[in-house]
Amino acid sequence: MTAPQQPLGVFARGTGHEQVVFCHDEPTGLKAIIAIYSTALGPALGGTRFYPYASEQDALEDVLNLSRGMAYKAALAGLDLGGGKAVIIGDPAKLKNEALLRAYGRFVESLDGRYYTACDVGTFSEDMDHIARECSFVTGRTVAHGGAGDSSVLTAFGVFQGMRAAAEITWGTPTLHGRTVGVAGVGKVGHHLVTHLVEDGADVVVTDVNPEAVARVQTEHPGVRAVDTTTELVAGDLDVYAPCALGGALDDATVDVLRARIVCGAANNQLAHEGIEKSLQDRGILYAPDYMVNAGGLIQVADELEGFSFERAKQRAAKIFDTTAQVFALAADEGVPPAVAADRIAERRMNEVGRLRGIWLGR
Ligand SMILES: NC(=O)c1ccc[n+]([C@@H]2O[C@H](COP(=O)([O-])OP(=O)(O)OC[C@H]3O[C@@H](n4cnc5c(N)ncnc54)[C@H](O)[C@@H]3O)[C@@H](O)[C@H]2O)c1
Repeated sequence: MTAPQQPLGVFARGTGHEQVVFCHDEPTGLKAIIAIYSTALGPALGGTRFYPYASEQDALEDVLNLSRGMAYKAALAGLDLGGGKAVIIGDPAKLKNEALLRAYGRFVESLDGRYYTACDVGTFSEDMDHIARECSFVTGRTVAHGGAGDSSVLTAFGVFQGMRAAAEITWGTPTLHGRTVGVAGVGKVGHHLVTHLVEDGADVVVTDVNPEAVARVQTEHPGVRAVDTTTELVAGDLDVYAPCALGGALDDATVDVLRARIVCGAANNQLAHEGIEKSLQDRGILYAPDYMVNAGGLIQVADELEGFSFERAKQRAAKIFDTTAQVFALAADEGVPPAVAADRIAERRMNEVGRLRGIWLGR
């Protein structure tokens, strides 16, 4: 009989993370993992996901992937921030309370500013206020505590800027006017995106598993059409497809039937597996990398660290238009898909700017 295969430990994975911290407070039931991928450009910033993972391995896998993604997102967005993320294992509906959040806050504090936390799936601005009672390294707080509030506003604005840049490359003008745009998922980000699109003169089709979310959008914008499923949406006559629900939206089946010329949406981790970016390119579909166009929310919470100004954050998020154009240009020059070009620009900035910290300042 062969011994059961052990999952790989953190070191054996060779993921390139600087630090992974396991935090345990038995009385409150806190089990958290904080992963810092890189601090080359500044302190690692990334949200805390509170989720009932099936196993510790699943939680570890998620936090390692998410923290790496945050480093690339911050680097490409031009922020002086590194990448990190945290997960709290458990069902927030059963486990979350003041004591657990404050215990978690003390662990974040113990990292002395190497990691800043924020909201993610299962955590809200009110939770950040609790964490902040024990810890100085918290953003995404409530407006009453000087926070930036709902980050989906600038996330949607940034996605719209990326889509305009993609439209310019594809059709010669930076507008969605007269184009049919399919939005899958009209939750916090998706519904704000629909508003930008309608105001720009696009013909919008939406879908969502939650009928109330669809009803809200159609009440606000009676001209918006709806279809029952994402499968129906992607097979339809679209110019642009905007995945704004869950990760993995771009799988082989979707790419095979997709008739849109552009994919640009808010969902994280849209590419279902490695190589799908090449399939999109081969089918003549321009893919605007997810972490590039959905950086508006990160820009918003990062701005809070300077004392929040919505206008300043919006100006920064507007630059997603230029970044998108720059990524498409590099992709064309180097003959690679935009997803590869985006990674190259982010890695170059982490190396070139990150290296400068090696210059001794004499104090
Ligand atoms: N909120 C932000 O600031 C932000 C920032 C960056 C990235 N994102 C990403 O954008 C995506 C949307 O975030 P959100 O904050 O709007 O979340 P949300 O939960 O408010 O909205 C998601 C919507 O998708 C719907 N949905 C779920 N499964 C679906 C399916 N199979 N088909 C169709 N609809 C489905 C849900 O019913 C919901 O209305 C997520 O992937 C998130 O990680 C969000």
